[in-house]
Amino acid sequence: MSIKKISAMAIAGLLTVGAVSAFAQEAFVAPTSPDEAVTMRQALMKEDGGILKGSADLTGDAAVTALQTILTNYTHIPALFPEGSIVGNSKALPAIWQNWDGFNAILESGKTAATAGIAAAQAGDAAGYAAALKSLGGTCGQCHEAFRG
Ligand code: HEC
Repeated sequence: MSIKKISAMAIAGLLTVGAVSAFAQEAFVAPTSPDEAVTMRQALMKEDGGILKGSADLTGDAAVTALQTILTNYTHIPALFPEGSIVGNSKALPAIWQNWDGFNAILESGKTAATAGIAAAQAGDAAGYAAALKSLGGTCGQCHEAFRG
């Protein structure tokens, strides 16, 4: 079996763990109106901000849980941006739907970084964990720069 295939399987395994833990926390229910979408995504983003801020000091299970929450949140983000949902105090830009692939590509690289950070935390690899946090944090700024007004 190729190394690439083995690591793809390892990542799939980790994603499964993430999905199971998210399900244990609460079942995700997609928004039914633009107002609800804005409220939900702003709350999710705030949660991610709080977690990311404290995550540098975490190790072991606490670090794993923190990054699993962000990973799960990243998988929910597309559903929180139904097309044209710019209402109320939303700072979302129309560019999101003009460049949906680009928006999702940033989420994918964030998910890869979170998955790597989870593996590093599980392995007790502090340098790897710090590097993964840095690239994960980079995806926040990258997306805000392009898609938030
Ligand atoms: C794929 C794009 C994308 C990624 C990745 C992303 N954000 Fe956001 N973020 C947005 C958009 C768009 C908004 C504006 C949402 C709105 O107002 O409707 C936003 C808003 C926010 C807000 C303001 C919420 C409020 O109360 O108005 C915070 C805080 C935030 N993001 C934190 C983060 C953090 C921390 C990360 C990384 C862990 C992150 N975001 C990753 C797109 C992204």
